[in-house]
Amino acid sequence: MPDAPILKRVTGRTKVMFILGDPVAHIVGTAVLNEDFFRNGVDANVSPLHVAPQDLALVLQAIRSMQNVAGFGVTIPHKVPVLQYLDGTTPRAGSIGAVNFVRREANGSLIGDNVDGVGFVTGLRRNGIEVAGRRVLQIGAGGAGRAIAFALAEAGISHLAICNRTQAKSLELARAVAARHPRCFAAPAGPEAAGYDLVVNTTSVGMHEGDELPADLSGLRPGAVVADVIMAPKTTALLMAAAAKGCQIIRGKEMLLDQPRLVREFLSL
Ligand SMILES: NC(=O)c1ccc[n+]([C@@H]2O[C@H](COP(=O)([O-])OP(=O)(O)OC[C@H]3O[C@@H](n4cnc5c(N)ncnc54)[C@H](OP(=O)(O)O)[C@@H]3O)[C@@H](O)[C@H]2O)c1
Repeated sequence: MPDAPILKRVTGRTKVMFILGDPVAHIVGTAVLNEDFFRNGVDANVSPLHVAPQDLALVLQAIRSMQNVAGFGVTIPHKVPVLQYLDGTTPRAGSIGAVNFVRREANGSLIGDNVDGVGFVTGLRRNGIEVAGRRVLQIGAGGAGRAIAFALAEAGISHLAICNRTQAKSLELARAVAARHPRCFAAPAGPEAAGYDLVVNTTSVGMHEGDELPADLSGLRPGAVVADVIMAPKTTALLMAAAAKGCQIIRGKEMLLDQPRLVREFLSL
């Protein structure tokens, strides 16, 4: 947690950031970013802003006029609705259809990005896993799933199989990924992990004790990698089952570790 020395450094030259959410009590990204800025000598500070959905447009309009604001993060429930109020997005945020950081430019323009998926891929790389040419089974096609699917395709995977409870969403996501990344074969699939190099759970299945495993690991080979986006529990039942088969596992927190650096780059801090 950041402590008093960080706050004492806030002056009129400090770049200000917010994380907009509703509710905000669970937000820890502010502390993570403040700690990162402190360690890297960046004169910037982040606070949570509790903004109800009906006030989002008003708050964004006000931020356009706040000249020392570098940008802001957005979390539940604003990641998709915020798009309608922005002046533009990065291509990846446009494809994903959701934003988690917004840059405020000098003239007040607001540009959105989404670093969830690239954070996931850099988390894999930090653990020695290069995904180019790999066959991936992804469980889930929600917000995190969309971000990860586009980032994996961008990183050069050869095959993306998507299994989602609502099948129409897996078909729509597979089509969108294939359209943007024609060299990646993308299609809906079942939950069977046999034959894949990487299995990633992007659903919330596994957060609660007694949840079924989101994938069928029975045919999984020991050299495969299994990743989960769930942060709590730290090691989900899926990851425990994969580890018991001798597979390398990647925990949910890995996806967050590089995000402060990605945010600094996007906001030019
Ligand atoms: N580690 C990180 O940095 C990070 C970042 C973002 C999110 N997350 C985590 O990712 C998870 C998903 O978040 P999200 O924002 O993508 O949520 P979301 O947009 O609501 O998507 C939820 C996904 O989970 C599926 N799902 C939910 N309940 C299910 C059930 N009972 N059985 C089968 N599938 C079920 C949904 O399937 P349907 O489409 O059929 O509803 C959908 O694919 C959460 O656990 C969240 O905490 C982690």
